Amino acid sequence: MENRTFFIETYGCQMNFADSEIVNSILAERGLSHAEEPETADVIFINTCSIRDNAERRVWDRLKYFRSVRRNRRKEGKDQVVGVLGCMAERIREKFLEKEKLVDLVVGPDAYRDIPRLLDEVTDGRKAVNVLLSLEETYADITPVRTTGNGVSAFVSIMRGCDNMCSFCVVPFTRGRERSRDAESILGEIRDLSERGYKEVTLLGQNVNSYSAEGVSFADLMYRASLIDPEMRIRFSTSHPKDFPDDLLRVIHEQNNICKYIHIPAQSGNSDVLKRMRRPYTREGYLSLIDNMRTLIPDVSLSTDIITGFCGETEEQHQDTMSLMANVEYDLAYMFAYSERERTLAHRKYEDDIPEEVKKRRLSEIIEQQMAIQEKNNLKEIGERHLVLVEGTSKRSDEQLCGRTDTNKMVIFDRKDFEPGDYVEVEITGSSSATLRARPVKKSSITEFYNQTVTA
Ligand code: 5AD
Ligand code: SF4
Repeated sequence: MENRTFFIETYGCQMNFADSEIVNSILAERGLSHAEEPETADVIFINTCSIRDNAERRVWDRLKYFRSVRRNRRKEGKDQVVGVLGCMAERIREKFLEKEKLVDLVVGPDAYRDIPRLLDEVTDGRKAVNVLLSLEETYADITPVRTTGNGVSAFVSIMRGCDNMCSFCVVPFTRGRERSRDAESILGEIRDLSERGYKEVTLLGQNVNSYSAEGVSFADLMYRASLIDPEMRIRFSTSHPKDFPDDLLRVIHEQNNICKYIHIPAQSGNSDVLKRMRRPYTREGYLSLIDNMRTLIPDVSLSTDIITGFCGETEEQHQDTMSLMANVEYDLAYMFAYSERERTLAHRKYEDDIPEEVKKRRLSEIIEQQMAIQEKNNLKEIGERHLVLVEGTSKRSDEQLCGRTDTNKMVIFDRKDFEPGDYVEVEITGSSSATLRARPVKKSSITEFYNQTVTA
């Protein structure tokens, strides 16, 4: 096994990207080395997403492409193994192995430690599967090999699984029960990242704000994380409206290095739809939570997830989603047409009765409205000062850098002498619905920027 190479391709959420870094570490530990591209790898892994049908379809297309890659390699006398990891592995299981010889190895999200053994099994010409879900696995002791984030920003996973059972969502079935990683191992990982020069961590989980481990709440964890390095930004994703106590909001407000940005998925703006979705809040409850967030964190930036065309959604209920979004004026929204998933409560109990064209039309309506809101919100930023953490070179020009504000807005500005990892104070000079342009003022730091804002 020692001189084999591997390549991992990742789809889906940030959690999947974090998991791929754990798999990377498990393989490196066993002496496998990283290949630059699938065509030259001895083992190809595809880390998959099941959340909507189109996410799965993309994976099937890639698997077909990998089959042709493998045929070409065989002609050269070299073998290749293809493995499916993640949520689809859990959902489709053995069916992968039956289907058109696309896959040799199927590994669910809680079985990554078993990959080296499974690879040995495959080497003997057999196929191998481990899709066991666990009540305890958090990979707490594995230090991920960082492949994303440019040495500036890193994901730290703090909990796994989800117990919420929203009626539309397949995640509780693919990722299993909710479990929190012990606080010391999380804080140790953040300390280590700080020592290695990282400037930002994102605490990850399907439902981070229900984190609870041996008496440590999410608010406690965030507070302790924020004390490790005052120059390290702390972000978190993703959260659920049911767990936002005031003490958590206060910690976010009070600690300068905790970013004032909350992703708070509403899913719908109508209370009956929310009830069918098994979301434990009403439209009014959600809106008063938003009010409370804005009272306790006046400069907070908010984003959401929305589903259009859920089972039985009437035109009027869709209008309630439009008006909720218009009312909150989110800075960012991830918007999706409902995609029925097997095993979920909605699949068992409700009919997927909204025609595809109607789902798509409603989706376009909320997207259009949201783009106008973002454009308006971003226009208000012109003239404002922000502290940007530089992430890298802008996609458009080598002469420009890009980075994010505390409020998670992407900003582009002239490179000058700045480098990735620098904090730069900027003045916003232009905007669109997606990005801000700025004039760099000077290199700064969280401590300096915050102190001058307070005294100004
Ligand atoms: N169809 C469409 N969107 C979905 N999401 C989850 N399940 C589905 C589904 N079946 C969306 C939700 C969730 C986000 C990660 O994906 O909005 O918050
Ligand atoms: Fe996709 Fe959800 Fe699985 Fe992430 S957890 S990979 S979004 S299905």
